[in-house]
Amino acid sequence: MGEPVSKVDIKHVFEFYRAMGILEVPLKAGAEIKRPSKKQELSAGEKGAALEKLFREEIEGCTGCKLSAGRTNIVFGEGNPSARLMFIGEAPGGEEDKLGRPFVGRAGQLLTNLIIKLGLKREDVFIANIAKCRPEGNRDPEEDEISACIPFLKKQIGIISPEAIMALGRVSAQTLLGTTVQISRLRGTFSSFEGIPVMPTFHPSYLLRNPGDKKLTWEDALQVLLLLGMKAP
Ligand code: URA
Repeated sequence: MGEPVSKVDIKHVFEFYRAMGILEVPLKAGAEIKRPSKKQELSAGEKGAALEKLFREEIEGCTGCKLSAGRTNIVFGEGNPSARLMFIGEAPGGEEDKLGRPFVGRAGQLLTNLIIKLGLKREDVFIANIAKCRPEGNRDPEEDEISACIPFLKKQIGIISPEAIMALGRVSAQTLLGTTVQISRLRGTFSSFEGIPVMPTFHPSYLLRNPGDKKLTWEDALQVLLLLGMKAP
């Protein structure tokens, strides 16, 4: 009798499945998800132009909620306009507000490390947030702020048309999935946002406080790589 497969062996399990040409069996799906498709309706250049237009015409100068009063910069998001994978956080923090870029503070460094560990670069993926302006004191964005901002994110997702989304933390996962289920219960299982597979996982800020849970986020990220048919490092 062989040893039972433990969680730490997950990478090898995935390698085995991939070697067998099996790409979908081990995934836990909490909702109907569409198969990843390499079909691109728009070229990367066209998507980039559409994102630019969205920013210039609809988001720049936005005063749609009370967060606009306290911001230094709108944090639109950044990355590859035709990314296959999007990471969606909660809202900008202090560093992000100062620089106008997502995930550039301590939590951002952790996210960057995860992306690199996956064999990718920040420029390969697209990183955005549920709210584009910083809530004061880094509090969670409130219902009215999320409602005001979510149409912009939906348009970004529509343009980028990623094959998978990693929802970082409670606010992101609950907003995208329209649920109040705890992140500790949501993580690790695919759900879907408008037909796009969403893998909820812990927020990097939580992982800075609870480094022991980094391995769970790593397992979640490996499921996403497998879904995308990418080689695990
Ligand atoms: N936390 C987030 O959720 N988003 C950022 O961009 C930075 C920190």
